[in-house]
Amino acid sequence: MHPLLAECLDHLPVLPLHVQSLFALFHDPNADGRQVGELVCQDPALAAQTLRVCNSPFFGLPTEVASIHQAVVLLGMEMVQGLVLATYFQTTLKSDGLPGGWLDGAADHAVATAHISRWLLQALGEPLQAGAAFTAGLVHDVGKLALVQLGREVEQQVVERRISGGDWLTAERHVIGVTHAEAGGEVCERWGLPDSLIQCARFHHTPLEALNEPMACVVHVADCLAHAAVTGGGVDALATEPMEAGAWQALGIDDEEMGELAADLLDLYATRSPS
Ligand SMILES: [Fe+2]
Ligand SMILES: [Fe+2]
Repeated sequence: MHPLLAECLDHLPVLPLHVQSLFALFHDPNADGRQVGELVCQDPALAAQTLRVCNSPFFGLPTEVASIHQAVVLLGMEMVQGLVLATYFQTTLKSDGLPGGWLDGAADHAVATAHISRWLLQALGEPLQAGAAFTAGLVHDVGKLALVQLGREVEQQVVERRISGGDWLTAERHVIGVTHAEAGGEVCERWGLPDSLIQCARFHHTPLEALNEPMACVVHVADCLAHAAVTGGGVDALATEPMEAGAWQALGIDDEEMGELAADLLDLYATRSPS
């Protein structure tokens, strides 16, 4: 592992007490929405950002959500936890030195992956898992946020390595010693997040290696679709972000169904995407 990354992981910010308590609720089967709402409300900036995301057209909610408590009722506790988590990651990072718009681009990709993950599960007739899929989609690339902290020079080396041949993951491993997926798994582990999130972050590019294979497969498929959605190339753009056939097959989807599903999900994204 690149010594700078080891240092970065060793110096992950200590989580404020209310965020630690919120993370602890992820593991608590008896946690209720009221507790989540109260903890989020202890941090006004976090609450405001969470409401902003919650009111985006992606959710298509019939009325504007004005309070965290209302958000918990409408979206469910699991999704609100995910929103808070992603918001916390974003606000904790040092953004100086990052290329212009990098953080916004990363946030847009995370949000796209999260929504496509939950829509995919709804389409598969598994709406009860949609909240967990949303959260896993939101945090899947947290390792990129860690790697980018290493600075422009290291990032440039990865880009150059990529241009000289091979894929991103190979380039990252060559320059840094780990991929952003592996680094993401490490970040989630050090912050004590649930195993399912650790696995989805670590294996979102190699979902068949994950312990919770179905959820990692959902995130993998949604990740690829989110790239296609954001680059605007539609289904054709999927060729640039290779999707593992084994991932959709593991979800019980055949090739033809996957083609139709991909087109439907990209349409839904385009319809809901804020202009
Ligand atoms: Fe990734
Ligand atoms: Fe991604």
